[in-house]
Amino acid sequence: MELLKNKILTDGTVNNEEVLKVDSFLNHQIEAALLNEIGKEFKRRFADVKVDRILTVEASGIAIAVMAAQYFGNVPVVFAKKQESRNLDADIYRSKVYSFTKDKEYEIMVSKRYISEGENVLIVDDFLAKGGAVLGMTDIINQAGANLVGVGIVIEKSYQDGSQILQEKGIRVESLACIKSLKDKTIRFK
Ligand code: G4P
Ligand code: NA
Ligand code: NA
Repeated sequence: MELLKNKILTDGTVNNEEVLKVDSFLNHQIEAALLNEIGKEFKRRFADVKVDRILTVEASGIAIAVMAAQYFGNVPVVFAKKQESRNLDADIYRSKVYSFTKDKEYEIMVSKRYISEGENVLIVDDFLAKGGAVLGMTDIINQAGANLVGVGIVIEKSYQDGSQILQEKGIRVESLACIKSLKDKTIRFK
């Protein structure tokens, strides 16, 4: 997606050789017009599949999922929670996720109320690195007996193995910008 790639080139910064900072439009401040175009592009990529629900994980996935939902007939959006909360239903699906970036394990949780057997679910997220978060969400979709129809990613770091792991499992991944390398603090796309 050219618009996104240009935005990454003009506003993205490289911290070290691993992490791309996009706080100015995606992870902290959010540029709604760009996210709207991203939502539209996900619909274009997944025009051939029936989507009943969009699943993401808090926090950065939420805005992306909500924008995308408008183009999928305003299907419900559900985000997996990372924090135990007193308000969370007792009946929940849980999955353990290992974060390589943070080198720690955490749990993601979705109420059984908000994902149903037989539904077609599209996962969306901001980044795909090693695939931990997406694998946790696919585990929850399986526990619910729902169908994963695909994964829409805004920025894939193709030099990490998440995309390959998902595709080896037969999961369809559509990434709007694929980064080949951040070497020498230079952003190179695939
Ligand atoms: P993985 O799920 O693909 O294995 O990735 P990992 O655990 O390493 O990612 C941990 C967090 O870091 C995730 O956000 C992920 O979106 C984000 N992340 C991974 N690589 C990059 C990167 O190069 N740049 C940026 N900006 N973020 C990256 P999170 O902490 O779960 O939370 P949130 O931002 O959604 O709240
Ligand atoms: Na993030
Ligand atoms: Na994320």
